[in-house]
Amino acid sequence: MNKFSCVEGIFGVFGNPIFHSKSPYIHDFFSKKTNIKHIYRSYCIPLNNFDESMNDFFKNKGKGANITTPFKNKAFFFADIVSEEAQISRSVNTLLKLRNGLIYGDNTDGKGLLYDLKRLNFIHKDNNILIIGAGGAVYGIILSLFRFNCTVYIYNRTKSKALKIIKLFKKFGNIFFLNINNFELIHFNLIIHATSLGILGKYPKLPVKIVRKKTPCYDLFYSSKQTTPFLSWYSNNGGSSISDGIGMLIAQAAYSFKLWHGIKPNINYTINKLKI
Ligand code: ATR
Repeated sequence: MNKFSCVEGIFGVFGNPIFHSKSPYIHDFFSKKTNIKHIYRSYCIPLNNFDESMNDFFKNKGKGANITTPFKNKAFFFADIVSEEAQISRSVNTLLKLRNGLIYGDNTDGKGLLYDLKRLNFIHKDNNILIIGAGGAVYGIILSLFRFNCTVYIYNRTKSKALKIIKLFKKFGNIFFLNINNFELIHFNLIIHATSLGILGKYPKLPVKIVRKKTPCYDLFYSSKQTTPFLSWYSNNGGSSISDGIGMLIAQAAYSFKLWHGIKPNINYTINKLKI
């Protein structure tokens, strides 16, 4: 039993679209391996109906939820109490109904990403990290990179969206906008691709000079069938270390499972065994 001592019930992932979600497979695997009974479904909810859908779920045996695109900011406002990660990023990917009926919100994306970057040996303290993209996916990951003492640079097609993120996070760590023409002035230890283009089978048009043979590249997107479009572009232009986001997906799910049940499934074992 975890410190919140929650009630019995069902679990699920909420998003729009949701057909691509691997979360039900991952949570079924966790449930089998930990022997914790855990009914987990996926729910595609209308874009303008988040609060009503979540109220319905929690009134009808809902106990825990994962929240995905495009509802993470709405979930932050929906929760009654939130973790520090969620408060700072204004983004929630995990909800839990407490015994007293209140809804607790956390964001496990950053912890999940950091876990995977360490596993891959892609990150070290004091690194300079370039994030490409400034959408919803970026909010949940920055604090973890700061906690590892890294400096973050953001490049995004629409500069104003990057500046919004920088404004929100700059009191917690070093974070700057990158003018792509100045790319050569900074030595990047890691590049994180975070645009939503992978889902369309595309990648952002960037100058080839951002590819460095020894700089690893991590794509938050994942694809079960082939290398993601951005990683293909990166390695075709000389980058030698690449990884998609499947490890992060499994790790963030494991931290959600721990919040709900008090037990963290074995992340490395799941990454090696689960074929999704
Ligand atoms: P979400 O919140 O679901 O992540 P989003 O806020 O639309 O979605 O963000 C998607 C990210 O992918 C943004 O960084 C977006 O860049 P813009 O802020 O300039 O829109 C990026 N993206 C989407 N389509 C793109 C494209 N054709 N070229 C470059 N970046 C793109």
